[in-house]
Amino acid sequence: MDERLVSAEVEIEEQSLEQSLRPQSIAQYIGQDKVKNNLSIFIEAAKIRQEPLDHVLLYGPPGLGKTTLASIIANEMGVQLRTTSGPAIERPGDLAAILTALEPGDVLFIDEIHRLHRTVEEVLYPAMEDFCLDIVIGKGPAARSVRLDLPPFTLVGATTRAGMLSAPLRDRFGVLSRLEYYNVEDLSTIVTRTSDVFNIDITALASEEIARRSRGTPRIANRLLRRVRDFAQVRGNGSITTDLATTALEMLQVDKLGLDHIDHKLLIGMIEKYRGGPVGVDTIAASIGEESDTIEDVYEPYLMQIGFLQRTPRGRVVTSQVYDHFKMEVPAD
Ligand SMILES: Nc1ncnc2c1ncn2[C@@H]1O[C@H](COP(=O)(O)OP(=O)(O)OP(=O)(O)O)[C@@H](O)[C@H]1O
Ligand SMILES: [Mg+2]
Repeated sequence: MDERLVSAEVEIEEQSLEQSLRPQSIAQYIGQDKVKNNLSIFIEAAKIRQEPLDHVLLYGPPGLGKTTLASIIANEMGVQLRTTSGPAIERPGDLAAILTALEPGDVLFIDEIHRLHRTVEEVLYPAMEDFCLDIVIGKGPAARSVRLDLPPFTLVGATTRAGMLSAPLRDRFGVLSRLEYYNVEDLSTIVTRTSDVFNIDITALASEEIARRSRGTPRIANRLLRRVRDFAQVRGNGSITTDLATTALEMLQVDKLGLDHIDHKLLIGMIEKYRGGPVGVDTIAASIGEESDTIEDVYEPYLMQIGFLQRTPRGRVVTSQVYDHFKMEVPAD
């Protein structure tokens, strides 16, 4: 797949950078007010009761701050964070080992929790519900089941695909928090904060320009900022003005709404070849050489969020905004 500057997925060389940029407390975490307010109350209440926080499921598109929030929850509760991921836990025994090693009150963070194996998931049910583990000792007719107590803990699960979670697992979370795309104001604040961390000289309007092209996603905002900074150091005097940011982002082929050449190809292709739709997702996928799943998980959510694409029972349809964006004539029908 073509490498995309505006992909919301984390790049390998970006990981340690992100680590250093993660806000450490709820107060430093920008935006997502609804999620933050709820969590603050639940955390406060749990602390008063001196109990672990209820299990929390964080869901939403990549790069919006799920992992960040999981570590903030542990910080705010004043407990340790243990991190693992759905695909990393291969057997029930692996999960049992993780659970029995927890200290009372710990936060266990399972990323990509929708990818847990079914057999592993079943170990999680009694652990979440009653803080215990049912293990079978021995084989055949002599086998017997033993119940082991676990320390009370908080499970924080994260997923980009809440729909793929089984109902029994979903039902065992007390708090379900959905992260939304960020508005330009919050993203500008994030760009300004990151600039402070890296000692980048940037104007408020330039932060806003980068924010506007970041597809509602902090990860993309921070990435665009780094690219624009490179440009400022080579082509300018190091400081980032609106003009410089605009020129840099145009050169990087990120348009005013954060769309890149692949979005353009997808949207213009739908208009030119299919009169704007409806057209099936498989057809769209084939026309730009992508998997249908990738179209649905990666390309579509943002295009739908900005009102450019609609899902109908007969397929995808572009809206009149797309014609406006590309300065094309809206067809009569
Ligand atoms: N609310 C926020 N305030 C400031 N920075 C943020 C915020 N949310 C995310 N970020 C920044 O964006 C980066 C990506 O966030 P994070 O890794 O938590 O996303 P994620 O939702 O876990 O993504 P993925 O689905 O790929 O795992 C972080 O390194 C952090 O610097
Ligand atoms: Mg994450």
